[in-house]
Amino acid sequence: MDTDHTPLRQLLYVSSSTPSVVIDVPRIVAQSRQNNALDGVTGLLWSDGKRFLQVLEGPADSVSATFARIRRDPRHRAIVILHDREIETRQFGSWTMAQRGAGDSGDAFDAQMRRLLDNASDSVRGSFLGLIAARA
Ligand SMILES: Cc1cc2nc3c(=O)[nH]c(=O)nc-3n(C[C@H](O)[C@H](O)[C@H](O)COP(=O)(O)O)c2cc1C
Repeated sequence: MDTDHTPLRQLLYVSSSTPSVVIDVPRIVAQSRQNNALDGVTGLLWSDGKRFLQVLEGPADSVSATFARIRRDPRHRAIVILHDREIETRQFGSWTMAQRGAGDSGDAFDAQMRRLLDNASDSVRGSFLGLIAARA
């Protein structure tokens, strides 16, 4: 997918869902899957319904366009970019969503997250695991 040496951008941010807005996470995921596949954007979205942590990876222009849309989305606020950098290779080769449902065991969810984060850099892994641990 990335054979033409277009610079790849990796952007990681956190945000909070807007109170009083009902957040339909599966709908966001479906929308994202469709758009991101068309734009060559991959990554990971994590949500517990109250907070979001997302990593976007892809050609710099595509990541910029995607993030510009996401930034304007009234369903979340207090967006904080944790890092934004050029990468050589994607750490999340396919677009994935991780969400811990009410009935899921914490251990199973943690194991799934760790698997997803296997190839991630220390800073990305630290951000995800820190946020998830903070929930407990
Ligand atoms: C936390 C969060 C993450 C999102 N992630 C993506 C994404 O990765 N890709 C995407 O296209 N839209 C994403 N969206 C939705 C966009 O903000 C926007 O609503 C959507 O891209 C518009 O799509 P449309 O032009 O097909 O209507 C996200 C929204 C939220 C609240």
